[in-house]
Formats: sequence, C-alpha cells, structure tokens
Amino acid sequence: MKVFALTGAGVSAESGLGTFRSVDGLWSRFDPMRLATPEGFAADPAAVHEFYNLRRRNMAAAAPNAAHFALTELETRLEARGGELFLCTQNIDDLHERAGSRRVWHMHGEIARALCLHCGTRRDWREDLAVGLACPRCGRAGGLRPDVVWFGEVPYGMEEIEAALETADLFVAIGTSGSVYPAAGFVARAGDLGIPTMEVNLEPSDVAGLFGESLYGPATETVPALVARLLG
Ligand code: OAD
Repeated sequence: MKVFALTGAGVSAESGLGTFRSVDGLWSRFDPMRLATPEGFAADPAAVHEFYNLRRRNMAAAAPNAAHFALTELETRLEARGGELFLCTQNIDDLHERAGSRRVWHMHGEIARALCLHCGTRRDWREDLAVGLACPRCGRAGGLRPDVVWFGEVPYGMEEIEAALETADLFVAIGTSGSVYPAAGFVARAGDLGIPTMEVNLEPSDVAGLFGESLYGPATETVPALVARLLG
C-alpha cells in the first residue's frame, strides 16, 4: 500500500508551534504580505529575518508530538511490508525529521536552511539570519534569506509530488486548512484519479466536501488512531 500524506500546521500545533489561520494564528498577528513574499523581503529584510529567527528558535524549543511519531511508525511499518509512505509537508519545521521520519518532502522549504540570492546555494542554517551576514559560499553579504517558499513562489519538488500522488493508493490530508494552493488542490487531483481520500483535522477544512472520509479531533489522537487502522 502506498499512502500519500500531506501535513500542515495543525500537525505541529500540539507541539506549541502556532498555526496560521486560527483566531489567534500567525497571520492574524503578522502581515503575510510583509513577511512571506519576495517583495516584503526586498522592502524590509530585517523585519522578515526577525520573524523567521523567532520561528526558528520556537521550533528548536519544541518537540515532536504523538502525531509526528505515528507517521514515523507508519513509514517504517509500511516499508517493512513493501509499501510506502510519501510524506509531503507544508510545514517549514523539522518535527517530522526529529520524530524519525526518514523521507520528508518540504514543499514550502525549511526554516533550518538558508538560500543565497546571489549564488543560489541552499544550505543548513540553524542560527539567526541577519542582513549583514555574508554567504559562506560566495562571500557576498545581503543575499541570505530563509529557504522557505513565499507567496508568489513555486513550491519545491512539484514534479516528484505529482508523480507520487498519481501512484498513491490513499491520499490523507492532516492538519491543513485547505486554503493554500497548490497543496489545497491535491484532494481534487486524487479524486479525479479515483484515489480514496481522507481528511484528518481539528475541524472541516475549506475543501472538506471533496474528501471521501473524514476524522475530526486533535492530531495527537486522530493520527495515531488512523495509523493503527491503516496497519491493523
Ligand atoms: P493553517 O493555519 O491554514 O491551517 C491549520 C489547520 O490545522 C486548520 O484547519 C486547523 O483547524 C487545524 N488544526 C489546528 N490545530 C490542530 C490540531 N491540534 N490537530 C489537528 N488539526 C489542527 O495551516 P496550513 O494549512 O498548514 O505557507 O497552511 C498552509 C500554508 O499557509 C503554510 O504552509 C504557510 C501558510 O501561509 C506559507 O507561508 C507560504
């Protein structure tokens, strides 16, 4: 069995990392057009660095939860049976990896990596970023940015993601509001391909009506229950 799992901020919510669109979510307190667009970075890079530096520190202080660990178990046990978990996340945190997941597709990039706008080098980066820092590769200052995908940019790995979706036996969306494309469109694509679909979320998402099945509740309860069912 090949499972395609798409995760969003809801999977890390119980680890203490905020979601974007809840009442007190990140985008209710911060302006995404200022902090999560190439134009916003060009206009005020220091403000963008401050926002992501804080998020990088919050991530380092957080720990994976039962939902992350359950997905690791699913990956391991499916592989032992000749199956596969394709874990595609919109999250820029590293909690799936720290829970032991071996293969994670970060379609929106990773907060623990930096991208140099001068030479294009992408590298691990766990420290704060700042405007005056020089790229260790090309030596030029002012070009380092968080290696995350912003609004208006193309997510990473779309070809591999599309290929994995086409060959999946089950599509599961976990902890995502279904409001940001292209990820929000995966359920419609899976439906067109005749692949069974399931939504696992705290509440119905914006695209809830497109799923064949749904499981609502906190991810630390629903994801382990789902994994037990899939492996049972
Ligand atoms: P959102 O904040 O839009 O949605 C999070 C979803 O998780 C909501 O539907 C919540 O109901 C649900 N949720 C909250 N707590 C939960 C819990 N404990 N268990 C299960 N579900 C829970 O976050 P995403 O859908 O991930 O992109 O957002 C998608 C993209 O929008 C992000 O990757 C980011 C953001 O702007 C960029 O920055 C480009």
